[in-house]
Amino acid sequence: MININEQYDYMRKVRDLHDGGHVFIQTFGCQQNEADSERLAGMAEEMGYELCADSAEADLILINTCAIREHAELKALSITGQFKHLKAQKPGLLIGICGCMVTQEHRKEDIKHKYHSVDFLFGTGMMYRFPEILYETIRNKRRRFYIEETTDLRSASNIVEGLPVKRESPFKAWVSIMYGCDNFCAYCVVPYVRGRERSRRKEDILNEIKGLADYKEITLLGQNVNSYNGGCDFSDLLAEICALDGDFKIRFMTSHPKDATFKLIDTMAANPKIAKQLHLPLQAGSNAVLAAMNRGYTKESYLQFVEYLRVKIPDAALSTDIIVGFPGETDADFAETIEMLEKIRFDSIFSFIYSKRVGTKAAEMDNQIPEDVINKRFAKLLEVQNEISKSKNLAYENTIIKVLCEGKSKTDANKYTGRNEKNRLVHFEADDSYVGKYVDVLIERADTYALHGRRII
Ligand code: SAH
Ligand code: SF4
Ligand code: F3S
Repeated sequence: MININEQYDYMRKVRDLHDGGHVFIQTFGCQQNEADSERLAGMAEEMGYELCADSAEADLILINTCAIREHAELKALSITGQFKHLKAQKPGLLIGICGCMVTQEHRKEDIKHKYHSVDFLFGTGMMYRFPEILYETIRNKRRRFYIEETTDLRSASNIVEGLPVKRESPFKAWVSIMYGCDNFCAYCVVPYVRGRERSRRKEDILNEIKGLADYKEITLLGQNVNSYNGGCDFSDLLAEICALDGDFKIRFMTSHPKDATFKLIDTMAANPKIAKQLHLPLQAGSNAVLAAMNRGYTKESYLQFVEYLRVKIPDAALSTDIIVGFPGETDADFAETIEMLEKIRFDSIFSFIYSKRVGTKAAEMDNQIPEDVINKRFAKLLEVQNEISKSKNLAYENTIIKVLCEGKSKTDANKYTGRNEKNRLVHFEADDSYVGKYVDVLIERADTYALHGRRII
């Protein structure tokens, strides 16, 4: 395990170098990045910075990036460009960039040479050294760019425990149980930017969760949670977490179909603390495409797992990820994806257009699919799933469901939103006093993406 005492020394040293200030953190990407940003916020706070919600107020800006698709990278680069203007107005402003995008050599070089307003950069495996890097930047007034350690993240000893954390929500907590990924799906950049798979020690996870007794929901995070091996398997870890005191619900993401066991379903069925909801990325419905993607399962094995889930937990919600236009995907392959959607009837899907990622195996494949073909398939996919999602949502009409109120709706100023155990998005009228509490909502209307109802207590 990495010793972080040195970093605490740097946190003190940074605090002594300035007299307070504001930090603004912009996060792109998945929950893993959100969890990382909570650690960055914790370290920044320890260094004397106060979090702010407006970048114009900041003395320090951190951009935590994602590399999963080109669109994610373009968004991060665009915002990095925009922050240049803030620096023109406030010359003392420091800008740092980190996360998956900049953990790629070519992006690091881009930033170094084309984005002169960026003062420092660190890769995912260097995150714990943020205090040291910031200190060096301020002290020596030189730009700092570090990603080298990241590509070397091969061993389980490369786990950092004990960083300060400032959680964004007082009722929902992220708990990483593992880092990195070993699967090398042919399209995916994650193993390159997050390093090899490594699990946190079971005791460290249980201790962190013991400190979260007041939280209503705890989500266990990892690129492939069900291959967890930090002292027991994933199902046993879940069971041990459920045995802890506290009235919380547990969610976890993401599970990989190749490691999904019947034991996991039995554990979910036996423990009421585990939300009856599972996200299980299928990616494609054709065995040829699944093999080319290097996914390690077939559509038959996936179906077998779903059948067991539906027998053991008939009302479990199931969601998935689908990629359209993987190199070599034929019309017949795509038809098999549609067939799987129709057969399984997922509660919801996240659908993505294949995006070529530098360094991955799929980027070298010579049978890339033309954009117009992909767009047509994507539209078809949405049409089929929208109909399924809507009919699943309609079944909620005139029922009363228990919802954890999360905050104001982003789309309707008069409404609040929350999710039920099955992770359905629900809009209803409330006020701030309900945030973080469970409410009963009578569902009056359902559409493709959400439920709308009336709070009855
Ligand atoms: N580790 C998880 C999810 C990782 S990324 C898993 O294996 O399921 C989240 C989703 O992004 C993936 O499930 C996949 O559907 C999508 N994705 C990853 N790389 C992509 C790419 N190059 N183009 C399009 N979608 C991609
Ligand atoms: Fe990417 Fe595959 Fe790992 Fe998921 S399992 S992070 S899709 S390589
Ligand atoms: Fe993006 Fe990195 Fe997550 S690439 S999806 S932020 S692991």
